[in-house]
Amino acid sequence: MQLLGKRAGAAPARAGRSSAVAKIPVVAGSRSRVLSTTVMATAATQVPVKEVPTKPIDGQKTGTSGLRKKTKVFMSDNYLANWVQSLFNALGDEVAGQTLALGGDGRYFGKEAAQIIVKLAAGNGFKKIYVGKDAIMATPAMSAFIRRRKAYGGLIMSASHNPGGPEEDFGIKFNYTAGEPAPEKITDKIYGETTSISTLKMADIPDVDLSKVGVTTFGGFEVEVVDPIADYLATLKEVFDFGMLKAFVTRADFSMVFDAMHAVTGPYAKAIFVEELGAKPESIKNGVALPDFGGGHPDPNLTYAHDLVELQWSDAGAMLGAASDGDGDRNMILGKKFFVSPSDSVAMIAANAQACIPYFKGGLKGVARSMPTGAALDRVAAKLGLPFFETPTGWKFFGNLMDAGKCSVCGEESFGTGADHIREKDGIFAVLCWLSILAYKNKDVPVGGQLVTVEDVAAEFWGTYGRNFFSRYDYEACESAAAEKMMDHVRSVIAASPPGTKFGAFELATADDFEYTDPIDGSVAKGQGLRFVFTDGSRIIFRLSGTGSAGATIRMYIEQYTNDKARLKEDAQVALKDIIKVALDLSKLQEFTGREKPTVIT
Ligand code: G1P
Ligand code: ZN
Repeated sequence: MQLLGKRAGAAPARAGRSSAVAKIPVVAGSRSRVLSTTVMATAATQVPVKEVPTKPIDGQKTGTSGLRKKTKVFMSDNYLANWVQSLFNALGDEVAGQTLALGGDGRYFGKEAAQIIVKLAAGNGFKKIYVGKDAIMATPAMSAFIRRRKAYGGLIMSASHNPGGPEEDFGIKFNYTAGEPAPEKITDKIYGETTSISTLKMADIPDVDLSKVGVTTFGGFEVEVVDPIADYLATLKEVFDFGMLKAFVTRADFSMVFDAMHAVTGPYAKAIFVEELGAKPESIKNGVALPDFGGGHPDPNLTYAHDLVELQWSDAGAMLGAASDGDGDRNMILGKKFFVSPSDSVAMIAANAQACIPYFKGGLKGVARSMPTGAALDRVAAKLGLPFFETPTGWKFFGNLMDAGKCSVCGEESFGTGADHIREKDGIFAVLCWLSILAYKNKDVPVGGQLVTVEDVAAEFWGTYGRNFFSRYDYEACESAAAEKMMDHVRSVIAASPPGTKFGAFELATADDFEYTDPIDGSVAKGQGLRFVFTDGSRIIFRLSGTGSAGATIRMYIEQYTNDKARLKEDAQVALKDIIKVALDLSKLQEFTGREKPTVIT
């Protein structure tokens, strides 16, 4: 069975499974022993397999980006094993004889989880698994790795930007053959399998030493522990001009600071920015990856990356400030006392890509953004005559467009920026894009001259395209029932508001629950966000988060455009004051949730 039919012909014929009293030599590093347990053995790998009975566990539904729950939940009973086995069940015969990759953001429980997953992979007929050293591999690095090594897919142990540790979150997600997050037809199928699962197929093999790069074989099953950085770096070198970047980064009058937030990008930043590009070692802040991210919330935004924000707003601020999240796919870009909103960042990258980044020198194939993302990118697409796509929230919707050669650069307002070099958003890629833009624009400025800054790049962009002021209000961990009631209320406002309805000074053009038909495979995603679009292009959007692990998180997105030259540099909160009031009034958010203020304002 081919779920997506992408690897037609590539998967070897299904290896039959034989029930046998196995006497199978097992070689684990220097250890060698003979097992004589009554077990099943996969003919494909000749590894002894125990069939462990299990029972369905409620609530294993995959959200916007994999399954996320409290770490303790993941550590309990067969929680992790059930989900992974359900994934393999969902993939069916496809997996026999295939190669899987495994890594994660280094959070608490990752190493133990990796041992469970290795045994399940062997037990389900994979012939090989690559594991990032110490069970580490950033999300974009995994996407690059799957593509370079032509792996069948990869598992990433991460709850992304959610905090980690025994009391916090763990998560797991599956990326498919092109390196893309599993599409809904797979995640729906996994969920179905979790509701009826009865058996875990666990290879009866010892734990593998994940701290050393190298190969260990168990019968016909191979575990290869790999450097989690090398393949990713090789991909980035195909995109960027590392020579130009190094010449710029090592200029005496340039400075950068990258805050890894004690998460997975610490070692990547050291290898790429310091060792490859010559940045000073002290440019990397919080660069040691810790299983609990140092107790922080590894989300690169103005609230949680406060150390970096403080630094950039002080006189010691660097020319470029950046941060990334738990698993390395998000990014925040700052100049000196200047914040680049992610909706603007992707548009500014798209506008400058062809001139500044070798990978895009032939021009962009097209661009895409998620629906709630601010519409600056739309203006770039219009000016450059590029195909443009508006997708639902979540990276998985970009994959088909990229595979079909219709999209080069894409992004989300939620600090996600990326391109078709891989199939995930990519934090370090975004930083390298900004470095490339700065390097290119400053190539003729002598050292000590007036450098073109991040703020100058933004000002130039706004001068050309006008500015889409954007803000997102997050109300985290609200009571689920209250959040649902509020959403129902907003639905009723939509139903009662024909075009022309006035909301304060804003006149409604259209309001709906966003629905997306994938232009490549025709699949339809409904219920993707309640939106109000006004006649001046301003927008108000409400969504419930699909990535939280407790209660409900309400996201309110606000956007308003201006091309009034006098207003381009206004603070977004000031510029959006009126429309934010309209949004809070029409939704009765405060009344339903009891929340006076959002948890995070972006
Ligand atoms: C959030 C973001 C979304 C992003 C996802 C994974 O999802 O809003 O853009 O793709 O995290 O990083 P949400 O919690 O809103 O469902
Ligand atoms: Zn992430």
